[in-house]
This record gives sequence, structure tokens and C-alpha cells, in this order.
Amino acid sequence: MKTIIILGSTGSIGTNTLDIVQRFPGEFRVAGLTAGNNIDKLEEQIRTFTPRVVAVSQEEAAARLRQRCAGLPVEILSGEKGIVEVASLPEAEMLISAIVGAAGLVPTLAAIRTGKHIALANKEPMVMAGKLMQEEAHKHGVKIFPVDSEHSAIFQSLEGHRLQDVRRLILTASGGALWTLTQEQLRDVTPERALQHPNWKMGSKITIDSATLMNKGLEVVEARWLFDIPESRIEVLVHRESIIHSLVEYEDRSMIAQLGLPDMRTPISYAMRYPERLPLDLPSLDLTEVGKLTFCKPDHERFPCLQLGYESLRIGGTMPAAMNAANEIAVDAFLQKGIRFLEIAEVIRQTMDAHSPKEIESLEDALDADRWAREKAGSLVHALPR
Ligand SMILES: NC(=O)c1ccc[n+]([C@@H]2O[C@H](COP(=O)([O-])OP(=O)(O)OC[C@H]3O[C@@H](n4cnc5c(N)ncnc54)[C@H](OP(=O)(O)O)[C@@H]3O)[C@@H](O)[C@H]2O)c1
Repeated sequence: MKTIIILGSTGSIGTNTLDIVQRFPGEFRVAGLTAGNNIDKLEEQIRTFTPRVVAVSQEEAAARLRQRCAGLPVEILSGEKGIVEVASLPEAEMLISAIVGAAGLVPTLAAIRTGKHIALANKEPMVMAGKLMQEEAHKHGVKIFPVDSEHSAIFQSLEGHRLQDVRRLILTASGGALWTLTQEQLRDVTPERALQHPNWKMGSKITIDSATLMNKGLEVVEARWLFDIPESRIEVLVHRESIIHSLVEYEDRSMIAQLGLPDMRTPISYAMRYPERLPLDLPSLDLTEVGKLTFCKPDHERFPCLQLGYESLRIGGTMPAAMNAANEIAVDAFLQKGIRFLEIAEVIRQTMDAHSPKEIESLEDALDADRWAREKAGSLVHALPR
């Protein structure tokens, strides 16, 4: 029985994780859960999974949840401090990190520092402070298992091989909801249209990141730190069907890939139970039904965000953290219909141009860059003509 904590339990990854817990009742015990503000779903989860402690972002939501859960054996905390407390629960062996965005950095780092293995879905902390997270993981004897399907595929394709034999990592990209649109058509894309991902059902922020290809830019940075490979040996291949989840090429030109139908429960369960594979009762991939798989190169003209990911790594230091924060502000503004689709990349680019990067020596360095870039990107958003 493995005791776990889930950060972001009410989201897409969080609910898929709890689906696995429910399917394998003898395998996992839930010690703690956290959410933003969705107390309806969190209350349901408290009643089903009986965590000892939970936390939500706002004290006001926590107060309402305490009233609803009066009489239940659960402690309800709030704010970043409360989420960090849940992330640090001493009885847990593993933390599933599934908050969206930079808000996951402080609690995920707290879990590492209290010796918990991490199943990492929340890629933004790795983008902001990947080197620091890996150093801390090393110091505390913690393993970080990837949940992102591409990184899980690479992790699986590296198993039993020597890192020095790796030639390239190849991350596949679905291309997102807008891949077939012209530059002209991209100008007038609405959030509703951009949220129609062809293969994956995910939270709104990552779905927009997929449409801009910033998700792949963030994943290149994530791969750099997860697998300790320079960005010059990480490539991206557009593969619309999302069947091959990623590949590794070795020095002898062998390529090893991991395939499967797109379902996040496969990589989540692999991270949670590594090296075992849980017998998930999911449909099998029938390659005769798929018939053919297609591949093409990314289009950097229409989707410049992927290159921004590479550029942030080449510049290094706090630049990826600044890029990540600008992206969060720009995506939020687009979802609120405050800016247009193509302006997302513009806001990120201009924020990066204005940023003076410095080395990340502590968590504060990453958080300072995050704060600075949020302010800068926010003022750029407001300055754009409506
Ligand atoms: N979804 C996927 O298939 C997928 C695949 C690969 C990687 N990922 C990564 O996994 C992470 C989660 O993605 P998702 O699609 O599951 O997102 P999501 O559905 O939007 O869920 C986000 C979770 O984080 C909570 N949250 C949001 N803001 C918060 C804050 N400021 N403080 C504390 N909690 C907060 C949300 O709570 P409320 O529900 O209360 O708002 C929710 O529980 C992202 O980093 C994403 O890139 C996701």
C-alpha cells in the first residue's frame, strides 16, 4: 500500500489519478488532497477517499468546506501555507504534482525537501527551476517520475539503456486544435475554438498551450532537466494522431518509441507504481484500425512559441521562468478575451526581450523572475489595443 498526496486533485490529472486509486483499492491510500477553489468536487473526493488533511487556495472557500464537512475526520487548511503543509505530510511516500502553472513550484519543492518521490504532471515548476529541483531531489534521495505522456514515453524508451548512447530525444506533438489553420485564420481564433483539442481532454491552460505549441516549448525545457540532455539534442516532431508518445534515437541509429491510445491514466499509473505496470482495463491500441501514422516538422512561422522554449534554454538562468510567467498571463488574458490568439506569442516575446536573466541559485531567484515577468506581461496586455 503506497500512501500518496495529490496536489490539484480536482483537475484533469487529479481526477484521472483518483480514478486509478479507485480501480486499485489495495494499492494506494490518500493522505492529502489540494484544490484551487472547486470545493464541490473536493468535498466529493473527501467523502470517497477520506484524506486526513486537505487544502484550498482561499480561506473563504476553506471556511465553506469546513461547514460542509463538519463531523468528518478531515483537517481543512488554506492558502499556499496550507497547500505546502499538505505537500509535506510525513506519512506520504509520493506526491502527485498536478496543480496547473507556477503555483505548484513551492509545494512540489516542499514535498521534495521532505523526501517524497514525485509523479510530476505540473511541468511549469520544472521550467522555472528545473536545475534546482533536480539538485534538491538528488540531495534528498527523491526520484522525479514524469507523468507528461511524452516524457513518460522517453523515460520508458530509456529503460535499460545507457544515457551516453543517446543521440536525440524526439518529443511528438499533436499540433493542437489549430494546426490546419492559416496565419490569416489564426488571427480571429476564439478561445472556444482553440479549446477543441483533437486527441486529449485536459485543463484549459494546457489546451491553449497545445494550440500555440508553447506546451511543446515548455516540454523541451522539462525534458532538458528531467533527462539531463542539452536542448540541441531534443527535437520535436508533429504527429497528429498522438499514438507514438515520443522516441529516443541511439548512437547506432536505433529508435525506441512508446505507443498507446491517448489516455493519461497509463503514464500516471506508471509513475505511481514504477517499475510495476498496473492492469488497467482500457481499450487496446489496434494498429490495423489506425492504418497509418503521419509526421511532419513544426511550423515556426505560424507557431513561434516552440522556438521561444528553445531560446529560453539557450539564454538560461531565469529566462525560462520569465517565459513561463508571461505565458500564464497571456493565456489567461486570451481566455478572458482580453487579447487575440496571435498576441499570446507577442506578449511572451516582448517580456523575454525586456528580461535581464540571472543565474538561479535559490527558489527566491525563480520566484522573483516569475513576479517580475507577470507584472511586465500584464502591462503589455493592457497596452494592447482592444
Ligand atoms: N491534463 C492533461 O492531460 C495533462 C497532461 C500532461 C501534463 N499536464 C500538466 O498537469 C498540470 C495540471 O493540468 P490539468 O490539465 O490537470 O489542469 P486543470 O484541469 O486545470 O487542473 C488544475 C488543478 O490545479 C488546481 N489549481 C489551479 N490553480 C491553483 C492555484 N493557484 N493554487 C492551488 N491549486 C490550483 C485546480 O483547482 P480547481 O479545480 O479548484 O480550480 C485543479 O485541481 C499542468 O501543469 C499541465 O501542464 C496535464
